[in-house]
Amino acid sequence: MENKKIVVFGSYVTDLTGRTPKFPTEGETVMGVSFKSGPGGKGSNQAVAAKRAGGDVTLVTRLGEDAFGKLALDFYDKEEIDSSKIIVDKNSDTGAALIIVNEVTGQNEIVVIIGACGEFKPEEVQALEGTVASAGIVLCQLETNPEATYKVLEMAKQAGVPTVLNPAPARKLPDEVLNGIDYFTPNETEAEIITGVAVTDCESASKAADVLLGKGVKNVVITLGSKGYYAKNEKSEFTGTPIKVAVVDTTGAGDAFNGGFTAALAAGMSFEAALKYGNVTGGLSVEKLGTTPAMPYKEEIETVLNK
Ligand code: RIB
Repeated sequence: MENKKIVVFGSYVTDLTGRTPKFPTEGETVMGVSFKSGPGGKGSNQAVAAKRAGGDVTLVTRLGEDAFGKLALDFYDKEEIDSSKIIVDKNSDTGAALIIVNEVTGQNEIVVIIGACGEFKPEEVQALEGTVASAGIVLCQLETNPEATYKVLEMAKQAGVPTVLNPAPARKLPDEVLNGIDYFTPNETEAEIITGVAVTDCESASKAADVLLGKGVKNVVITLGSKGYYAKNEKSEFTGTPIKVAVVDTTGAGDAFNGGFTAALAAGMSFEAALKYGNVTGGLSVEKLGTTPAMPYKEEIETVLNK
């Protein structure tokens, strides 16, 4: 089967995750129940999800020359993710995310300090032209500095390489960035911030998708949390509901969806089949604590799909 090279351009931060029976209110201290640290950041999470889903993945990010950065590089070696394009900056610190997970609901609150990967320089991005042009598909998010991400998307567009943009965390986007994006994958909140349409169900998701299609996006995928997903292009629309799982931690579920979805496209699946693949990848990821450790492997995803 074909397996096109996936280039993920995005963030790496170390996730520092505590579980708690309740979220603290401002000024309150709450006794948590457990703590874990490990690789995180939307770019890195999506790269890991795509790799475990069977993708051939190169990750481009920035790290500091510190213990957290070393942890990341060792981890990519173990996961067999190509880290040869990662920039290590001795004048910057690797980013970190402070994550609190409510152990009752599985929901989270996150503060990201983006660090080194928010400091891509124009010349560093320009140097990626060949890497981007020779990719089979390019996957980006919005955690790194915006101009760098926009430039990578522009280089991919110029080279005729398909793009997936997961606009997380939410930010208003210039029309010229949206124009020509092949797959645009906001959640409900991101879709509302970007289109101005409040998204609560498939009907409102369809309206938001129309705004995006009107701006030149080719395929829109709106993830709807516990309601599943809604997808639309000029010819068709697709919906899906989540697989049934015991929710432990929803952190990184969107990343799992995007990684699985992109790996499926790179493997030559149709838009509809890739949506199903991403949906199962995202669903399986909420069964375990953490972001990276929770990313499922191809065999687990296919077992659910073949049921
Ligand atoms: O999407 C989840 C990710 O967002 C976490 O891993 C955290 O690092 C934040 O960037």
